[in-house]
Amino acid sequence: MTHTSTAFPAGFLWGASTAAHQIEGNNVNSDWWRKEHDPAAKIAEPSLDACDSYHRWEQDMDLLAQLGFTDYRFSVEWARIEPVEGTFSRAEIAHYRRMVEGALARGLRPMVTLHHFTVPRWFEDRGGWTADGAVELFARYVEHCAPIIADGVRHVCTINEPNMIAVMAGLAKRGEQGFPPAGLPTPDDGTTQAVIAAHHAAREVVRAVAPAAEVGWTIANQVYQALPGAEEVTAAYRYPREDIFIEAARGDDWIGVQSYTRTKIGADGPIPAPEDVERTLTQWEYYPAAVGHALRHTADVIGPDVALIVTENGIATADDTRRVDYCAGALNEVAAAIEDGLNIQGWLAWSALDNYEWGSFKPTFGLIAVDPVTFARTAKPSAVWLGGLGRTRALPRTTA
Ligand code: BGC
Repeated sequence: MTHTSTAFPAGFLWGASTAAHQIEGNNVNSDWWRKEHDPAAKIAEPSLDACDSYHRWEQDMDLLAQLGFTDYRFSVEWARIEPVEGTFSRAEIAHYRRMVEGALARGLRPMVTLHHFTVPRWFEDRGGWTADGAVELFARYVEHCAPIIADGVRHVCTINEPNMIAVMAGLAKRGEQGFPPAGLPTPDDGTTQAVIAAHHAAREVVRAVAPAAEVGWTIANQVYQALPGAEEVTAAYRYPREDIFIEAARGDDWIGVQSYTRTKIGADGPIPAPEDVERTLTQWEYYPAAVGHALRHTADVIGPDVALIVTENGIATADDTRRVDYCAGALNEVAAAIEDGLNIQGWLAWSALDNYEWGSFKPTFGLIAVDPVTFARTAKPSAVWLGGLGRTRALPRTTA
């Protein structure tokens, strides 16, 4: 076995990602806050104060910069910026602008996500993404984000994981609870079309208000692997859950690749992983190679003109040595793909902090632990190791 390294391509993003609802706390005007307090939704625990990052974002950024990271992806919260339809909060816009300036002052390049799963309550009440006028309302919100992104923000993500939004809408419209044992539920086609239209509308607005910014969106990639003979079944299964969203990124500046595990597909559809595989705290198969497959598949679908950025990659575990092992395996795949000529422009860990994992605080994805009572932050060894790679600007590479 040979240990070498692959230099970061010029301008390579090296950082960690978060999402507003998962870390800020008290996102009271959002659809998720309401759901968390509705017994019928059967959510294990509410987000409440989360990591209190609404007040502690400076500490979070200090830590990331001190560790050696050069990039920070965070989201701005539509439910705060437009708490009532048509009423925009100047104070919240100023808050997020301070975050952008705070990142830049610390040597962290901000990647700003405009929408990460949560919507304002009023948007849900008027019918969500498939209601008349939803796309225009999202574009208007994006216009009001202009003061946040107009200056100094190089990467803007319009919508995080639109394919998961369509999947969740499919579940809700059918009145189903929970996911199948393997694979993803069928997405709602109307939601798919609406979020694609919303992305294209938002892309135009971002290009108008922030001409220096590069715009894209981020896709959840399940790494569907066909068993012999199941190639056509796999392609048909994958298309509405993934490829349609990758195709919609043609014309973008970059596409975000987000992967954690894999899903095998046989002649009859997805096959659960065997009982004896190692699993993470989200019960996903431990499979660090996922990101390599996700990058190569995304490049195959989108072609060479759109840059690839790994915008989320990581593992929920209470054992940080498994996080180091997972990330080492994943980065080896990223380095191999760069050596093979893929245009990969960054890697961002999910997540900077042990945050609210959509229903529970138990699956800990963070590089940085957060005390649930005092909110004190403690960098884990994985954070120290990964941050250090930012100083060397080289990805570890192991070849057989
Ligand atoms: C999402 C994150 C989430 C993570 C782990 C992605 O689906 O963008 O919000 O916490 O994966 O489940």
